[in-house]
Amino acid sequence: MVKLKDIKVVFNKGTENEKVALDKISLTIKEGDFVTIIGSNGAGKSTMLKVILGEIFPNSGIYMIDDSVMNGTNSYKLAKFIGRVYQNPNSGVFPNLSIKENLILASKKGMRYLGFSKVSDFGVELLANLGIGLEKRLNTKAGHLSGGQKQSLAMVMSIISRPRLLLLDEHTASLDPQSSEKIMELTKRINIEYGITIMMITHNMEIASKYGNRFVKLSEGRISEDSIRDHVSAS
Ligand SMILES: Nc1ncnc2c1ncn2[C@@H]1O[C@H](COP(=O)(O)OP(=O)(O)OP(=O)(O)O)[C@@H](O)[C@H]1O
Ligand SMILES: [Mg+2]
Repeated sequence: MVKLKDIKVVFNKGTENEKVALDKISLTIKEGDFVTIIGSNGAGKSTMLKVILGEIFPNSGIYMIDDSVMNGTNSYKLAKFIGRVYQNPNSGVFPNLSIKENLILASKKGMRYLGFSKVSDFGVELLANLGIGLEKRLNTKAGHLSGGQKQSLAMVMSIISRPRLLLLDEHTASLDPQSSEKIMELTKRINIEYGITIMMITHNMEIASKYGNRFVKLSEGRISEDSIRDHVSAS
């Protein structure tokens, strides 16, 4: 589904601050994969996800989705089939809008027609499936939710428009162990029940060992480990 071939990303090329962030990495991800990505600070993990999102264009190499070359495709075009959730729960939601308004906005992603005023059935189903009662609090402002609740809402928002691929960049890093576990169980369900391909960056080795069917390690801009494993059926 996603294919990176010899992708090279160099920041500040030709200056004394030149930094090779990705050094000819190649990676092919299959539809339905749950890829766990680890590596030290500065290894190039977030840069790799930004290439896939179209936020950074590689200096060389080929980026493909299915059989189409995506080099140079803008992020707003890719946003139609790629969802994302990052570390900071505040960055994934609009704090001054209600849960309902957040969901409506998220479902409009990548569409021209902006006329919905109601949360889709799929949105309500996703929210109810969280099992934390957010579906009964549709008029609560997202800014009033706890970090874990905000991140749960952000996860629902990231998949409400049914993307094929979900990119997670340390999405549990700011949560307490219990909330983190809930979000991870939700992540796993998104992969298995909705068939959405997942690429997840984490620094948490417990999470890395417990989730995903593919394990990729980046070291100084290169892939130093890439192993396929059985879907670990977490607790
Ligand atoms: N916009 C940029 N300009 C210059 N250098 C950058 C830029 N973005 C990233 N870098 C550099 O590229 C390298 C890879 O950064 P990246 O953010 O991909 O690392 P990471 O693996 O996500 O690290 P972390 O675990 O700390 O989030 C780092 O050395 C970083 O300083
Ligand atoms: Mg990063």
